[in-house]
Amino acid sequence: MSFNVPADAYARFMGQFSEPLAVQFVEWADARTGHRAVDVGCGPGALTAQLVRRLGAGAVVAIDPSDSFVAATAARFRGVDVRTGVAEHLPFPDHSFDLALAQLVVHFMTDPVSGLREMARVTRAGGLVAACVWDHAGESGPLATFWQAVRDLDPGAHDESDLAGAREGHLAELCSAADLTHVESGKLSVRVQFATFDEWWEPYTLGVGPAGAYVARLDDDARDALRIRCQQRLPAGGFEINASAWCVRARVRPVGVVAAS
Ligand SMILES: C[S@@+](CC[C@H](N)C(=O)[O-])C[C@H]1O[C@@H](n2cnc3c(N)ncnc32)[C@H](O)[C@@H]1O
Repeated sequence: MSFNVPADAYARFMGQFSEPLAVQFVEWADARTGHRAVDVGCGPGALTAQLVRRLGAGAVVAIDPSDSFVAATAARFRGVDVRTGVAEHLPFPDHSFDLALAQLVVHFMTDPVSGLREMARVTRAGGLVAACVWDHAGESGPLATFWQAVRDLDPGAHDESDLAGAREGHLAELCSAADLTHVESGKLSVRVQFATFDEWWEPYTLGVGPAGAYVARLDDDARDALRIRCQQRLPAGGFEINASAWCVRARVRPVGVVAAS
């Protein structure tokens, strides 16, 4: 799996976007003092950090299938219960949390509807399930320039645009399929500055996620060609990447209340 990488590699690649995204996502989920929350697919803890800041470590549980990320999150946050596991099989009793959140995870779930159903199961009736995924389909995600350059050179390449939740409205469809109610959609955006092209490119060589895995499969010549194509697509000197994510929040249906047909 392309997330079996050191936590600092993730931080240099995606963490620079997901850390500021988490500030907005906890706001979107309205995480407040007194809430108990689970961070599903916590990675090295971008969202965990914001939940701890708002709720306190004792009110936050985090879970991820990547051993290196679980170790990093446990080391980063004393007092947070950090587990190894996947969204589709959460190791928690029913109704354990007020909030179940998944930042940049639904598109990597083997079965996104099952994952969201599990998030609903472990959340109390009336509690909130929220998720966000980069707008890979609309090309306003942080990796848009990279995948455009890939397609310039390799038109048949498989990018991330068809992943679950990566197109407008799809997260809401998945929440409805998972029997969540009061589904609301939105969009969050972050800006990240890069001083040089090399500062932007180097994290792609660390093997993180589908983009890193794509680069890792290339031979030296193909990797050089892709780096040059990316550089041609970006402004010379310093530049800013404006990245947007689709987000959704939905309520857990009270026990015994069935969906209208
Ligand atoms: C893009 S990272 C997001 C990490 C973190 N939430 C953040 O915002 O930085 C995707 C994460 O999802 C995790 N993941 C992959 N499949 C998963 C699944 N089925 N259930 C839960 N997490 C999963 C990966 O291990 C990785 O940590």
